[in-house]
Amino acid sequence: ETFNEQHRLQFHFTPPSGWMNDPNGMVYHNGEYHLFYQHNPDSTVWGPMHWGHAVSKDMISWEHLPIALYPDSLGTIFSGSAVVDMNNTSGLGTKENPAMVAIYTYHDAEGERAGRDDFQTQGIAFSLDNGRSWTKYKNNPVLKNPGTRDFRDPKVMWYEEGQKWIMTLAVKDHISFYSSPNLLNWKLESDFGANVGAHGGVWECPDLFKLKTQDTDEEKWVLIVNINPGAPNGGSGTQYFLGSFDGNNFVIDPQFEASLNAKPVIATTVNGQEGIWLDYGRDEYAGVSWSGVPEEDGRRLFMGWMSNWDYANVVPTEKWRSAMAIARKLELVNTPAGMRVASMPVKELQNIYGTTKKLEAQTISNVLDISDKLSINTSTYDLQLRLEPVGTQNSFAVELSNAKNQKVLVGLDASRGQYYIDRTKSGDHSFSDKFSGIQYAPRLSNDKAFDLRLVVDVASVELFADSGKTVMTAIFFPDEEFTKVKLVTENGQLKLVSGQMTDLKSIYS
Ligand code: FRU
Repeated sequence: ETFNEQHRLQFHFTPPSGWMNDPNGMVYHNGEYHLFYQHNPDSTVWGPMHWGHAVSKDMISWEHLPIALYPDSLGTIFSGSAVVDMNNTSGLGTKENPAMVAIYTYHDAEGERAGRDDFQTQGIAFSLDNGRSWTKYKNNPVLKNPGTRDFRDPKVMWYEEGQKWIMTLAVKDHISFYSSPNLLNWKLESDFGANVGAHGGVWECPDLFKLKTQDTDEEKWVLIVNINPGAPNGGSGTQYFLGSFDGNNFVIDPQFEASLNAKPVIATTVNGQEGIWLDYGRDEYAGVSWSGVPEEDGRRLFMGWMSNWDYANVVPTEKWRSAMAIARKLELVNTPAGMRVASMPVKELQNIYGTTKKLEAQTISNVLDISDKLSINTSTYDLQLRLEPVGTQNSFAVELSNAKNQKVLVGLDASRGQYYIDRTKSGDHSFSDKFSGIQYAPRLSNDKAFDLRLVVDVASVELFADSGKTVMTAIFFPDEEFTKVKLVTENGQLKLVSGQMTDLKSIYS
């Protein structure tokens, strides 16, 4: 494999060839981060799903492995999770060599075509050799379908306090929680969400975990619910809820619920849509977190698919389709809008750092040509800027561009008080009339200074603003790579307090 085709990302995960969507089975075990993924090896469009597989020591550089799970007589293999059964509750491994267990959805396409409603069930498979070879459990499915067309994407975790497994499952317009002593027999505990949050589409790919605040050690449970369509900027997106979980029920946090219900939802509404979102950009979906990360590490690590169902099947790449967004660390933070989940790139991104060049503090009128000033000529970099208004707040943007006058703008729209990404002139968008346009996100900080971090890779930009309180991910397809970077201000001045740009090395070099 060469990994150097047009638009091929250089440090984000992509399948060597064929189609990819959701990340699946993310689990850390014996020093390796596993990433499985929804994969159609025979085509660059969605089709019969397999679980592709890769491993990494740092979530940045990946070793591609053979396909882990193939379709069988029960169906194709839809999304799901993986755990390590440390206490051998399933009996599928031993205490000395615990089984890695994948819990996934069987999608029986024939059943669907025949007009049945029970064509999605949950199955499991296990591996005793660090995920290198897999055996499907003989009594699959372990959870049958009660008669609901959308019944999928099991995310399983060990609930220590109750010494049982909890499965968080997406069921059309709500989440169902199931419990099990052994991963083999499952019992319905409760349902959540039919009347709360965004409901512009089907609920998919959930996740449930506990998170601590950095400063006060306060704890909340986070329930992630991906949804398609119904995202704030259209198509698919990742919403979440804060609350508590007692092994039976998820109870939404009253303050969080109040901010969901407030009308207008000043700090959280974009384009009049409801919900609170982990990433407001068009191109982060189906994101969930890694299980099995050691307690000493203490991080909650998250990764999403970097596309949108509005156009994922038609983006202009030839050999492969879609990438994963960069791995992120999630954190609970206090904001003027209440407690929220912030995300930042994992620190391991430093493993591919090239040279860092610093910008001098200065006042900018109209434009600062960053790539020119720093003599940097790359389309893969990490740019960090701290900006302050001079006088009244004016709009500003980081402009990524090429010699063909194609560009993407990532900045602040002062009239809305919101961040935005504008890809209306970003190059090819002929493949879909849903691709072009401007996407917005709320600002969740009252700080005078704007902290912007842009992680840019050939055909993608991820904005982490105000220490990750606002995140936006967007992809683009220019005719020539965007190697120019400028900071532009609209009718006014802007103070650059500090800034630095680091070029990022290709994970294939
Ligand atoms: C989300 C999703 C899941 C499903 C999978 C199928 O993108 O629709 O709900 O399991 O993709 O590929």
